[in-house]
Amino acid sequence: MKDLYLGIDLGTSAVKILLVDVEGNIIDSVSEEYPLIFPRNGWCEQEPSEWWKGVSRGLDRILEGKDRSLVRAIGVAGQMHGLVVLDENDEVIRPTILWNDGRTEKQVAYLNETIGKERMSQYTANIAFAGFTAPKILWMRENEPENFARIRKIMLPKDYINFLFTGIHSCDYSDASGILCLDVKNRKWSQEMLDICGITEDVMPELFESYEVVGNLKREMAERFGLRDDVKVVAGAGDNAAAAVGTGTVFDGLCNISLGTSGTVFISNDDFKVDRFNALHSFAHANGKYHLMGVVLSAASCNKWFCQEVLKTSDYNAEQSLITPEKLGHNNIFFLPYLMGERSPMNDVNARGAFIGMSMNNDRSDMMLAVLEGVAFAIRDSIEIARDLGIHIKKSYICGGGAKSPLWRKIFANVLDMDIMVPSIEEGPGYGGAMLAMVGNGAYGSVEECADRFVKIKDIVKPEKELVELYDERYSEFRQLYPALKGFFNRQ
Ligand code: XUL
Repeated sequence: MKDLYLGIDLGTSAVKILLVDVEGNIIDSVSEEYPLIFPRNGWCEQEPSEWWKGVSRGLDRILEGKDRSLVRAIGVAGQMHGLVVLDENDEVIRPTILWNDGRTEKQVAYLNETIGKERMSQYTANIAFAGFTAPKILWMRENEPENFARIRKIMLPKDYINFLFTGIHSCDYSDASGILCLDVKNRKWSQEMLDICGITEDVMPELFESYEVVGNLKREMAERFGLRDDVKVVAGAGDNAAAAVGTGTVFDGLCNISLGTSGTVFISNDDFKVDRFNALHSFAHANGKYHLMGVVLSAASCNKWFCQEVLKTSDYNAEQSLITPEKLGHNNIFFLPYLMGERSPMNDVNARGAFIGMSMNNDRSDMMLAVLEGVAFAIRDSIEIARDLGIHIKKSYICGGGAKSPLWRKIFANVLDMDIMVPSIEEGPGYGGAMLAMVGNGAYGSVEECADRFVKIKDIVKPEKELVELYDERYSEFRQLYPALKGFFNRQ
């Protein structure tokens, strides 16, 4: 009878829960969807109570018929940056404003221009982006002063779940980096940033390394799920850091591409690094070290949007099977994937999606291909920044829902001109969460040791010279489109 661990990935469209044994085998997995709220064009919110409904329903399902006494620890990974605000009774004050919400243009301008990028970078190792948490705190202060006055605790989405589990207000360093109130290099809250946001340190959660134990499950929680009350809850991590753990991206210079609702390029570093223009985020990693990251706000979500909302189908494979191999590299249609604005590198909340270059000989498969290619080109924008910094990435792991498509993996290998390594377990964040729980429970001495034991590569997709050249030309054309349309996007 092997010890069991729960890895929870609190995503944007759904929560995914994995039950993993101490040797890294996935025993079971379940997923529960929850709704997004789009109150205005470019805004995006979610109710924390919906997360909890999803988590508790998912736990009930995954534990059904299992020996619950074998569960030792829980690790939660979560969508980053969402502002969860609690009042003096630990009640949620308002729906959470999510990482892909673009309402904070004015506050971002205040932070980057009035306070100034140089000071922001000095305080936090980062500049402000609309999705980050600090601009949302400023937005609330200006637009909802009554709500702001009631704030007693600020935390991130996965921390709210950990709070319900343990009764402790915690946050790990990887996720805390994206609040923009953390002095990332020194792993402590930045007093300057707290002052700028008009909050005091007691409003912030207690900081932990991702694999550190925050506390045990509260007795009522243990009873609710039929688990032992000595089940440990580790601090967990932002979903990208957890995905990097889950794919073994925990050694210096390794790269992971995650294709979830967002698309990210995650470069793991042993030492603190900051890009001189702060175009890439400089955040703490879940192994106690650091990473650089570029973020495309809409990645697999572009595929989902195009199939479900436009083509009115959920059969993504059938759509992709219409794309015949000779079309690769020869598509005359471009797609800009900026459905929720764009983060890296342009930091433009007003950017929007666009299909460009269609003619009468095109059909739905060309548009579908343009969507897949457009996301890969947007990811390449972040890779190019890393290249400009002298970081030459020759290979990358890949994970997330989008990574399940062999066609998309091939497009990535050729657009990025790198080997794409497909891990045998593609469950990224949830698997990383379970691994952090094992380290927290002492089953393994470090995150690296655990990754070394578990992560295997099942396939390597190699770039093909001819396709790389064709995609290189197409990428240089793609690069001209956003600057040409920027004035139009920002016309109001
Ligand atoms: C990272 C980011 C997204 C979310 C998605 O900075 O905003 O990747 O974490 O869940």
